[in-house]
Amino acid sequence: MTGTRRRKKPPSPAKEIQLGRARVAVSILDADLGNLAYAVRRAEKEGADRIHLDVMDGHFVPNLTFGPRTIKALRKRTKLPLDAHLMIAEPGRYIDQFLDAGCDSVTIHVEIEEPIEPTLRAIRAAGRAAGLSLRPMTPLSALEPYRALLDIVMVMTVEPGFGGQEFMADVARAKVLAARDLLAHKLHGAEVHVDGGVNRETAELVGALAADVLVVGSALWIPGRNMGREIRLIRALADEGYQYVLNDGRPPIPRDRVITFATLPRHLARTLQAEIEKVGIPVLLFRAGGLDVEEPDETRDWDMLLPAS
Ligand code: DX5
Ligand code: ZN
Repeated sequence: MTGTRRRKKPPSPAKEIQLGRARVAVSILDADLGNLAYAVRRAEKEGADRIHLDVMDGHFVPNLTFGPRTIKALRKRTKLPLDAHLMIAEPGRYIDQFLDAGCDSVTIHVEIEEPIEPTLRAIRAAGRAAGLSLRPMTPLSALEPYRALLDIVMVMTVEPGFGGQEFMADVARAKVLAARDLLAHKLHGAEVHVDGGVNRETAELVGALAADVLVVGSALWIPGRNMGREIRLIRALADEGYQYVLNDGRPPIPRDRVITFATLPRHLARTLQAEIEKVGIPVLLFRAGGLDVEEPDETRDWDMLLPAS
């Protein structure tokens, strides 16, 4: 260093990403469950903001995954925050184990039949973020009695239990923005998570509804897919959606940075997108006419965009 001026390091890509608003929590449900340590390391390397851990008991949902011991083992493999999503009937019985495992947040379901409050209190007493999640058909009002104890509201936009299901846009529209109001008492650190079917097609809408954390599973674990690019794309689309609303419905991404090369119904747009992506060119799909058009996604046209470069 002698004699030379210390040069300012260029910001790392990770720091640049933090300028945006939305965060991506990578669900490892659809990763190779035989090598979860690799999965969390990979998600971290590819730019995930969080790891989302789907715990299922074969009772609350018709599927089984892993428990606190697995999470404890994964804790050592990544520095990323761990969000546990407990789809289990008796979280109260196991909560100490999940806290001891090193979860940074624990979210339980409001539909369970045991008392909810003691578990939320235990999570908060341990200095972790406490969350409540709700199935698509459960009204947001079910969370009202617990609002003072909530750091996180997790809106499920698929039936809990499995990855890879179709996003329920109507559920998102009905609940995500309203969930923010539910957390209005908390001036700092409250988060709305959206879980289920979030991908490059749905991220813009999720962002427009002011979600803080987008849980993304199957869209990232497609063999051959560039996970880092997908995470950045989903985050950027969510931020674009948010800006879109702030911008009175006008597209905030300067459209000179992308070229609309076709407008097609969704199924044709998807087929063409897959063909073009086979040769390594990313294609974005946006709802034609913006977010205000009332038509359902299946019948409306979609704009297909390519990066101008
Ligand atoms: C579903 C889980 C989700 C799931 C999301 O029960 O809670 O976290 O992993 O996966 P995708 O993104 O495939 O819907
Ligand atoms: Zn989940």
